[in-house]
Amino acid sequence: MKLIQQSFTASRNSIWKRSFIYTFFLVVVLLMACDQQPETTFGKPGDKFVETLLAKMTLEEKIGQLNLVASSDFVTGDFEETDIAKITKEAKAGGILNIRSVERIRTVQKAAVEETRLGIPVLFGLDVIHGYKTIFPIPLALSCSFDLGLIEETARVAAQESTADGLAWTYSPMVDISRDPRWGRVAEGAGEDTYLGSLIAKAYVRGYQGNDLQGNNTMMACVKHFAAYGAAEAGREYNTVDMSKLTLYEWYLPPFKAAIDEEVGSIMTSFNEISGVPSTSNHWLLTELLRNDWHFNGFVVTDYTSINELVNHGNARDDKNAAELAMKAGVDMDMQGRVFLNNLKVLVEEGQISEELVDQAVRRILEAKVKLGLFDDPYKYCDEERVKTDIMNENQLAVARESVAKSCVLLKNENKTLPISKNVKSIAIIGPLGNSKKDMLGNWMAAGEPEKAVTLLEGIQKKVGSDVKVQWIEGCKVDDSDKSGFAEAVKLARQSDYVILALGEHGWMSGEAASRTDINLPGVQNELAEAVINTGKPTAVVLFNGRPLTITKLDEMAPAILETWFGGTQAGNGIADVLFGDYNPSGKLTMTFPRNLGQVPVYYNHKNTGRPLDPERPDFKYLSRYIDSPNNPLYPFGYGLSYTTFQYSDLTVNSEGEQVHISVSVANTGEDDGEEVVQLYVQDKVGTITRPVKELKGFKKLMIKKGESKTIDFTLTKDDLAFYHPDLSKSYEPGEFVFFVGGNSQDNLQKTIDLK
Ligand code: GLC
Repeated sequence: MKLIQQSFTASRNSIWKRSFIYTFFLVVVLLMACDQQPETTFGKPGDKFVETLLAKMTLEEKIGQLNLVASSDFVTGDFEETDIAKITKEAKAGGILNIRSVERIRTVQKAAVEETRLGIPVLFGLDVIHGYKTIFPIPLALSCSFDLGLIEETARVAAQESTADGLAWTYSPMVDISRDPRWGRVAEGAGEDTYLGSLIAKAYVRGYQGNDLQGNNTMMACVKHFAAYGAAEAGREYNTVDMSKLTLYEWYLPPFKAAIDEEVGSIMTSFNEISGVPSTSNHWLLTELLRNDWHFNGFVVTDYTSINELVNHGNARDDKNAAELAMKAGVDMDMQGRVFLNNLKVLVEEGQISEELVDQAVRRILEAKVKLGLFDDPYKYCDEERVKTDIMNENQLAVARESVAKSCVLLKNENKTLPISKNVKSIAIIGPLGNSKKDMLGNWMAAGEPEKAVTLLEGIQKKVGSDVKVQWIEGCKVDDSDKSGFAEAVKLARQSDYVILALGEHGWMSGEAASRTDINLPGVQNELAEAVINTGKPTAVVLFNGRPLTITKLDEMAPAILETWFGGTQAGNGIADVLFGDYNPSGKLTMTFPRNLGQVPVYYNHKNTGRPLDPERPDFKYLSRYIDSPNNPLYPFGYGLSYTTFQYSDLTVNSEGEQVHISVSVANTGEDDGEEVVQLYVQDKVGTITRPVKELKGFKKLMIKKGESKTIDFTLTKDDLAFYHPDLSKSYEPGEFVFFVGGNSQDNLQKTIDLK
């Protein structure tokens, strides 16, 4: 910096004049300095650093930043091996996904920083969906905890572990609302409710990103899949999505907006089309809505080769056309498709794409790297010491165990079949999921180690100790027709004081590319259950699954059913805590369990229709119903039992200005202390757009000790009661409202009031 050399003669007769001049001179220097940031100062994104760097980049180097390449440590799609070192040294990889370990990441980062012309660091990402090495319950399970603090904590732990192993970016949270359990990816989401899904989206972003992305134990989140992927027709993976903008705005977009309001650093486009336009080439979605309306300031990454797939969709003629459509729509980074890498240069040279558009995408990627502090220290996540202290430590495993117990949902419990008395002397665990390590981790197990997962058998053995005889027998496979193991299973049941049936799906039967046309218990598990239950022994079913299942037959037979989903590394320990009453189950379903597939989609916040069921005329024919099934599901949204019982009373609803105050008393009328999720639903009786029969508008999870009673208060504003209109504006309409409060979406106290 050339400082202005200003010679001056200080007045000899007054100190104050000299100090005034010195001060003035100092201020001038500082002002000059502020105007010319040295290149090594990394201010907020968008400061001079990014522009200065961008100005130095060649078109090839810019396009290299828009290329996200998959390494081979994990395979999450149609994989073509890439020479990661080579592509990095050629400055053709702005990001690398599916890579792991500090050693490997340091080596690649070194190549990027020290062996390329500009030394731009690489962004390393992975699908850390429910934990990195310490695997938590699948997200659908965690959502059933209705515990936002716990969900945030699991994401914090996941970020601690992932960053300790070199990673900076996770493709999470997945916030796709879905009402169709045939779709395997319901396992990755937060169920069917938009209000809850939006709060959970925020919790994940807070957990991963913390309040300082410059730290070395926080990572950038990526909210996905934008948008409406969960509404795939027939629940078939990657299938068409067709819906009104009103439905999109009301039910599917809010969790994305919630994540953006929580400052999520990136967003991923979905594979599907929305009403004829694929998300990845959807200018309305990626620019008009995301940028112009929502002012999203992060970057847009595609899903795996989804630009290439614009050709399959019939939306692009070829890869070159696909690149043009995606870039013009607002995509910034191409995951594993190499479409930008192979076509953008010629598109710019031909004038089909402006270099300014490329610059805009590059700027967003560079700004993300600035936000993460990668230019300050490209090796900030490569600390071998942290591998020893910040992965699968005691605290992290304790959080995992707590999250298992809190995600369990008690679906049925006749004659206090559960909890199991600790006086029981022999326990038979029967079923194909009774001692399976790999299945406990569910789908998207990242760097999880199945051998470290605690199975149900191991968890119970540890719980009861060597004085109790605990034996496991498979009885049958998860999914075949062989019943030859039934006899041995029945024999063991007869010899035991207590039987636990461990039934459900394999972990891989949900998640991506795992849609099912039949969501019954697979194979001959129902028959096994029947044979064992018919022995008359006290029997509890422990269910392991990644989606709601049509377990109507099981529900008829079994005296007790505990839904445990896939609990992750600490599954067996957390489930044993619940089975033996060391934790009183508090989970509530966030996705409806249908009686049969024919009811799907079936969800709690449905419309009333013009011919709703009439309790006064239960057999009247001409109503919205089936001739072969009830309308109501097997288990509704928000449902879950406790070992104790809760009594709701004294519901009051008062309107005061712009607010509505709701109050209710909840008493613990049973024998055990227990947590209850008190749920508030609202029905707007009349609207220019018809409203659902009820919508979740609040919930509070609290401990109520046995014999205790608590008053729970909610306050809603008119904004909370607003809804979208055909012009996509959102507003409240005065009129008659019904307020429901209860422990699930079906059994409620209710009050009706008129709101102005
Ligand atoms: C997969 C998934 C997406 C994931 C990505 C990277 O196909 O759709 O959720 O983040 O590819 O693995």
